[in-house]
Amino acid sequence: MAAGDSFYITTPIFYVNDVPHIGHAYTEVAADVLARWHRQRGDDTWLLTGTDEHGQKILRTAVANDTTPQAWADKLVEDAWKPLLQTIDISNDDFIRTTEPRHEKAVALFLQRLYDDGHIYSGEYEGYYCVGCEEYKQIDDLMETPDGDYTGQLVCKIHGRPVEILKEKNYFFRMSAFEDRLLDLYENTPDFVQPSSVRNEIIQFVKQGLDDLSISRSSFDWGIKVPWDDSHVVYVWFDALLNYITAVGYGADDEQFERRWPAVHLVGKDIARFHAVIWPAMLMAAGLEVPRAVFGHGWLLVGGEKMSKSKLTGIAPSQITDTFGSDAFRYYFLSAITFGQDGSFSWEDLSARYQAELANGFGNLASRVIAMVIKYFDGSIPAAPLDDVITSIEKRVTDAANTQIDAFAINEALATIWELVDALNGYITDTEPWALAKDPAQRGRLESVLATAVHGLGTLAVLLAPVLPKATARLWEAIGGNGVLESQRIDRAWEFDGGSRVSALEASLFPRIEAEAD
Ligand code: ME8
Ligand code: MG
Repeated sequence: MAAGDSFYITTPIFYVNDVPHIGHAYTEVAADVLARWHRQRGDDTWLLTGTDEHGQKILRTAVANDTTPQAWADKLVEDAWKPLLQTIDISNDDFIRTTEPRHEKAVALFLQRLYDDGHIYSGEYEGYYCVGCEEYKQIDDLMETPDGDYTGQLVCKIHGRPVEILKEKNYFFRMSAFEDRLLDLYENTPDFVQPSSVRNEIIQFVKQGLDDLSISRSSFDWGIKVPWDDSHVVYVWFDALLNYITAVGYGADDEQFERRWPAVHLVGKDIARFHAVIWPAMLMAAGLEVPRAVFGHGWLLVGGEKMSKSKLTGIAPSQITDTFGSDAFRYYFLSAITFGQDGSFSWEDLSARYQAELANGFGNLASRVIAMVIKYFDGSIPAAPLDDVITSIEKRVTDAANTQIDAFAINEALATIWELVDALNGYITDTEPWALAKDPAQRGRLESVLATAVHGLGTLAVLLAPVLPKATARLWEAIGGNGVLESQRIDRAWEFDGGSRVSALEASLFPRIEAEAD
């Protein structure tokens, strides 16, 4: 992608039936890193996140808590979902709630347009529904429980809870009419669904044939009213998917819409089908561009199972950030898990990587180099020729990491950047600046070594700013970097043009974590 292009990236909008866990935070952090990276490349970037507030699941949660769905949603958004963004340092440009008027109005407009163009008809729906998934189910999606609480009943394979039998007059979207166009899209734009495991699953699913989609409900009223029939509310997924365009001015601000759309959607693979099948079909029906890409990342597993709110295996992000900080949270999940595959979280792995990679690898390198410039040069960075063993690595990793980010290979980009961390540590060990400092004849060599090491730190600050915004901001200041770190071009990180003086780091970038006695 050429610099200056529009880059609009979204996360799913999360259900407000419960508080966030580290699975939600994982998607947020990945989207945030991509957004920060693109901003630092000069792209016209927009990061959207938000909350999904309609539907039976939220309604029932509110009723169970003796309140109204609106009051429940307001509370969860203010007390849990917005604070999450602070906890893990998300730089979102907007936050959309599906109960906002800007969204509700635009959903009605979109639906009316599809209705007027003959894409919607009224019919009778009869079948199964899982409120946990907020999804109409086929028999293959269900199983009979041999024992336990729901013996003999059909339960959803995902939630393990009984499905409900629905028999309602509904409005239907003629999704089946888009089967061929969807298959052409997957074929002609191989990057449309990523990674390839998810793409293959989507293609298989559509090849089996698409049914029309029931897009309204009449047995409850917590939703957006169908504009031509107010005895129905819009099906929650149809409502929710539209957030990606209602938040950037669909039907209200053409300039903003033109500027942002189409988006890159980052989602968990659990909801890839909604994004890669239903959503592009809706857009095709409305004559709008399909998304630029849908990337379905893997699941965080606990004890081999998907971490989930409903199974009470959720870990709150603050449990990690309170001890390790937000930078370490961001780094850990993006470096330890292959982006696109499932991964297991463990406290042991987190602690070990924090210590080895962040504290000893990167933090210690920064402290040592800065301390030596202070000790041997009174803090002034020597203006000496740079060693090309290091500058050549800076160039190579900058280019490679940029290419990997374009391919959503976030963990690979981090591994690439870590080659520079390791190279600099090896360089200090090999050149032994403390020994050079003892020999006046080696003064010129010492100057080059420390100038090179500071240059390497500058390159690292620029490259790692999207992942470690807090630590790199401190490092940037300590090495006297010119200008604001977030404005340094990440595609030219190796061109780092440093300041003239360093100042001491008051505390290590990644302080030692004292083991908690338990
Ligand atoms: O599905 N591992 O919302 P939701 C990784 N409102 N990611 C996880 C995860 C895990 N164990 N658990 C959750 C909805 N996630 C709809 C979306 S979009 C138009 C509407 C993340 O609250 C992951 O991104 O159930 C997953 O897709 C999302 O949370 C589901 O959040
Ligand atoms: Mg879910």
